[in-house]
Amino acid sequence: MSSQSATSPQAAAAISPREKYYFLARRLHSITGLMFSGFVCFHLLVNATILASGESFEFCVEKIHILEHMGLLVPVEMATIFFPIAFHALFGIVILLTSQPNMTDYAYGGNIRYTLQRWSAVVILVFLVMHIWHMHWLGKPFGGAQFDPENATSTAASAMQSWALWAPIYALGVLATAFHLANGVWTALITWGVTIGPRSQKVSGYVCAALGAFLLVAGLGAVRGFMTYQIPADGEEAAVVEQANGDDH
Ligand code: HEM
Repeated sequence: MSSQSATSPQAAAAISPREKYYFLARRLHSITGLMFSGFVCFHLLVNATILASGESFEFCVEKIHILEHMGLLVPVEMATIFFPIAFHALFGIVILLTSQPNMTDYAYGGNIRYTLQRWSAVVILVFLVMHIWHMHWLGKPFGGAQFDPENATSTAASAMQSWALWAPIYALGVLATAFHLANGVWTALITWGVTIGPRSQKVSGYVCAALGAFLLVAGLGAVRGFMTYQIPADGEEAAVVEQANGDDH
């Protein structure tokens, strides 16, 4: 056994403050990645309700926007979505600029996934900026923000149908997100010591792959649903929504 084990005071003293902060930042990067993964699962599932009907999607958006009437939507969005992804993306860029892939030396599955995790991060980064500009109210000052929660289905559909390239761009964004999230959850389970041995990592690999495949189908289904949705004329839509509300009571 070495005279200077990992727990000895000498070893502890050997860890510089810089290394300690880097370790903490890596853990925070993992937590924020997991937080954003939860949000992405929820977001893609809500979007996929367009496959049931325009009213189903409208209904979900209406329920989410109850938070807005309580004055909580912006604080909740900032705390659970924007700050976590901002930290995850910024520190992710630091990792990207400092990590050294060795896929060309050893083309094993783990190395390929390691490299794909980084490439998918770059695709997501570009996609997120475009998506926020395109749909979210934050894009308003820059001529975006085409989604209006008051007319959720028709504005989301008309935003998607406004340019032929939106469908392939969203499909690529969904593909990168499904891979990055599924592979990320798999590595996070190792990071946090949940899956330690090769057997548990193999099982969690299947579970995460199934999660990724499910999110991919839900996300691509939503893209198709909004691209093919027949946008009703103004009056028609009001009547459809009124009828749907009437059916609820
Ligand atoms: C849909 C958005 C995203 C989700 C759901 C997500 C989620 C995750 C998760 C869960 C991990 C695993 C953390 C761990 O191993 O403990 C991870 C890793 C990573 N993420 Fe993201 N992420 C997203 C976007 C981004 C963006 C925009 C970037 C930066 C440009 C990024 C960069 C990275 C990097 C570099 C890693 C690997 C870190 C490592 O080597 O341990 N991610 N992500």
